[in-house]
Amino acid sequence: MQDINNKVVIVTGSGNGIGKGIAELMAKRGAKVILATKYDDEGSALENNMMEMGYWARYVQTDVSNEESVKNMVEEVLGITGKIDVLVNNAGITIFKSILEATLSDWNKVIDTDLKGVFLCSKYVAAAMVKNLEGGSIVNISSNHAYRTLPDTEMYAAAKGGINAMTRSMAVSLGKFGIRVNAVCPGFTDTNHYQRWLSEKENPGAIEKEIFDLHALGKISTPADIAELVFFLVTDSSKNITGSDFLIDGGLTARLYHSDKF
Ligand SMILES: NC(=O)c1ccc[n+]([C@@H]2O[C@H](COP(=O)([O-])OP(=O)(O)OC[C@H]3O[C@@H](n4cnc5c(N)ncnc54)[C@H](O)[C@@H]3O)[C@@H](O)[C@H]2O)c1
Repeated sequence: MQDINNKVVIVTGSGNGIGKGIAELMAKRGAKVILATKYDDEGSALENNMMEMGYWARYVQTDVSNEESVKNMVEEVLGITGKIDVLVNNAGITIFKSILEATLSDWNKVIDTDLKGVFLCSKYVAAAMVKNLEGGSIVNISSNHAYRTLPDTEMYAAAKGGINAMTRSMAVSLGKFGIRVNAVCPGFTDTNHYQRWLSEKENPGAIEKEIFDLHALGKISTPADIAELVFFLVTDSSKNITGSDFLIDGGLTARLYHSDKF
């Protein structure tokens, strides 16, 4: 697709943060954006806000971890637009907890939303894309935790590593239908989620300086930075790219260790 004018773009978890940034950029560039997110307050507020700005947006309540909910969302979208061109699997939650304390219920919560959610949404949207005979593009929002990680992140790292592996497999399976599948792996991104996490620290200012210093470019990403990469991956500028994962983290993960001494 040359551009995304009038293309139908589903963004999961678009009520806040990175998903909201992606939805806003796509709509601003002319797409018909489906806000497939879990909470009514966030979804309705964003839909109203985007429509007031003259953009095309519809909120469709969706829990990506629930198969019925995903099926209903896809049916509802097809009822409104007749086709789906792009899926951005963005919805995700984080539970960072020691493996010595994490429960099976914690594991299930993270895997159900972050990994099973990508499987379910891709399965039902890809079926609609295949039927439509016009191909399409799927972008999975993964994380730098798929490459390098930290203590107490096992559940999240497993989900994100799984997303990157599933991205390659889906690309191979769906290429013959003209469907491209790629993953975007953000590092620290300035969302409400990040600000809340930071504010719970004892000295947020010092922690934030330490974080910035770890980045080659001295700064973390914004949702708009992530949205630009997603935009590139759903338009013809990337027409021969599939099965790839893209790190976007200001150089954080390139660093071997942090020391000025050696
Ligand atoms: N913020 C970061 O620093 C960062 C870094 C790397 C990767 N990511 C990834 O980016 C994605 C978005 O993260 P964020 O920081 O913007 O999160 P966020 O918490 O700010 O927003 C997530 C949105 O998803 C919605 N959501 C949660 N569970 C859902 C479900 N089951 N079904 C549908 N919607 C659901 C929430 O209501 C919210 O609107 C996630 O996949 C996350 O793992 C974020």
